[in-house]
Amino acid sequence: MFARFTRASRFAARSFSSTALNAYKVSVLGAAGGIGQPLSLLMKMNTKVTDLALYDIKLAKGVAADLSHIPTNSTVKGFTPDESDGLATCLKGADVVLIPAGVPRKPGMTRDDLFKTNASIVRDLAKACAENCPTAAICVICNPVNSTVPIVREVFKSKGVFNPKKLFGVTTLDTLRANRFISETVGSDPTEEDVTVVGGHSGITIVPLISKTQYKGKIPKEKYEALVNRIQHGGDEVVKAKAGAGSATLSMASAGARFAGSVLNGLAGEQDIYESTYIENPEFKDEGVEFFASRVTLGPQGVKEIHELGLLTEVEEKMLATAKETLKKNIKKGVDFVKENP
Ligand code: NAD
Ligand code: LMR
Repeated sequence: MFARFTRASRFAARSFSSTALNAYKVSVLGAAGGIGQPLSLLMKMNTKVTDLALYDIKLAKGVAADLSHIPTNSTVKGFTPDESDGLATCLKGADVVLIPAGVPRKPGMTRDDLFKTNASIVRDLAKACAENCPTAAICVICNPVNSTVPIVREVFKSKGVFNPKKLFGVTTLDTLRANRFISETVGSDPTEEDVTVVGGHSGITIVPLISKTQYKGKIPKEKYEALVNRIQHGGDEVVKAKAGAGSATLSMASAGARFAGSVLNGLAGEQDIYESTYIENPEFKDEGVEFFASRVTLGPQGVKEIHELGLLTEVEEKMLATAKETLKKNIKKGVDFVKENP
């Protein structure tokens, strides 16, 4: 009895001190989906999160009830549109909002084909975020990321609350794939790899910068081309294998949890937090490319520093030019959508 009391007291003391230092509210919109469920689980396991709020048009309360039994230092609540202020309550006080809500691809579709359905979902969720948690870090997972992120910016701008340091397109899955696939190419430990991937999040807009790794110039041409192609089209591999039942969910949850964890580490003032992410970046603004996935340092205010591309190889320069052409169109499509459908 005495021993049990002591253990409980120790736990209370520990959780109190971690709460005092790291008390963050994370909201997941689309929490009952293929990504939403495992992503919410991983956020439940993050000790910086003390308040986990889950929203979906279905099943969010069930997912929340399930996760709420895990003895980590957070409360979990689920919200659905049945309650008049469900979404608002889910978002109020949020430090970080993760948005995996939206339909996934089927074989034969491009991410851009999802625009028709997902643009209005993201626009409406962005409105709710701008109204209820305008200072939160907004992390957009919903595809097509190249266009949905500009949609969020336009909505936030229209409400006068846009902060470029706090709006992120989650492209971490491209980094995870690059790390995994390069390790298979060179026979290394994937956990030791750290490939910078820039540009956007669709096919040719995904530009892995192998020249920034220790393998610069060391991978034979044929293998290099196969590696780049696999990183750019890794999503298609999963869509094909799932044969109509959706796209990457588990690897994406892992990527989303890593990214959200890094944003939280930055907010908490930890040092040397780096991620590649699709953000508003002035580097190519003159060319009409206002958003560009870049390596950034994260800090207490969100983006602390955008890392310059620096010197690239000729092949990478070519990939970059092609990526920018497509990005320009994708960004315009998102911006125009909000103008025409406010
Ligand atoms: P899913 O269909 O399994 O889940 C989507 C969830 O969103 C569902 O639970 C659905 O009820 C919910 N939803 C739909 N409309 C909503 C709304 N208005 N408000 C709240 N919730 C809503 O799909 P998924 O596999 O989880 O994929 C979700 C999105 O993420 C897709 O657009 C997909 O293309 C994208 N995705 C992005 C990346 C990336 O790297 N950024 C990776 C994988 C998938
Ligand atoms: C991915 O890269 O896996 C996602 O963007 C989902 C998709 O449609 O491929």
